[in-house]
Amino acid sequence: MFEEGQLYSAVTTDADGTVQVHLADNHPGLHDAAYLARRGEIAGVSLAHRAGEPVPHVDYTADEHAIWRTVCAELAPKHERYAHPEFLAGKAALGLPTDHVPQLTEVTERLEPLTGWSYTCAPGLVPLRDFYGDLGRRVFNSTQYLRHGSQPLYTPEPDIIHEVVGHGNQLASPRFAAVTEAAGQAGLRLETDEAVKFVADVFWFSMEFGVMADGDALKAYGAGILSSYGEMDEFGHIKIRPLDLHQMGTLNYDITAYQPVLFRAESVQHLEDVVGHFFATVDDDLAARLRAEAGATV
Ligand SMILES: [Fe+2]
Repeated sequence: MFEEGQLYSAVTTDADGTVQVHLADNHPGLHDAAYLARRGEIAGVSLAHRAGEPVPHVDYTADEHAIWRTVCAELAPKHERYAHPEFLAGKAALGLPTDHVPQLTEVTERLEPLTGWSYTCAPGLVPLRDFYGDLGRRVFNSTQYLRHGSQPLYTPEPDIIHEVVGHGNQLASPRFAAVTEAAGQAGLRLETDEAVKFVADVFWFSMEFGVMADGDALKAYGAGILSSYGEMDEFGHIKIRPLDLHQMGTLNYDITAYQPVLFRAESVQHLEDVVGHFFATVDDDLAARLRAEAGATV
């Protein structure tokens, strides 16, 4: 699993204005000079964007469109098999293109009439409070780059395929969109960094990596699972636990004790009742109390 917020590549600007993206040591594009240059170029497009201006377009290359096509083709049967019907209904309604990388403006054109969400661009990591603040206004910060072409079915970072195929399809469901907005509004409301982190961790184990019952079957609704080919083959073997806010909000504080675990909602209603209600009502005191009860030490 990529760890969002931890594995976004750092973006810096040199004195001469050149934008550089610093890939992790295990990134498949690390030694590909052309890929690195392209990542810098795309990050530069996002960096130049100012609030209130139209979201800039990226002129995607034939190779980038080919990666999008490959991943969409690989994911389609996986979605049919593993995705929860609520996600599939959103995906059908949104009707994202499968033959070309959509511009973020195209994603917004499709998504806004359905649930009121729009997409804006980000060069990489967006500070947690800014990211959640925008979610609270139904704005999703999205990267614009694509994963490395040598491994189209793998990405160590959240690329546009994750942001759009994972989150975009999810946000086309009015019910998932409402839970996501509630998380964002919690981020706007909370004052302590610890409380915002708690909300982000509950979000991680729900909207990013959540699984949900569908009759007797276990399906995925999390954007992280549904944008990654590998995750879907593996999630059936991962430890599954019932929704538990204490655990979801504190589990990855203790990295040494971390084991792959996913949290299971029994239905969309169950997700709304537990996670959605938590996002809608959490304040700094509640987050602190839940952390204390869970025995978090960080
Ligand atoms: Fe994500």
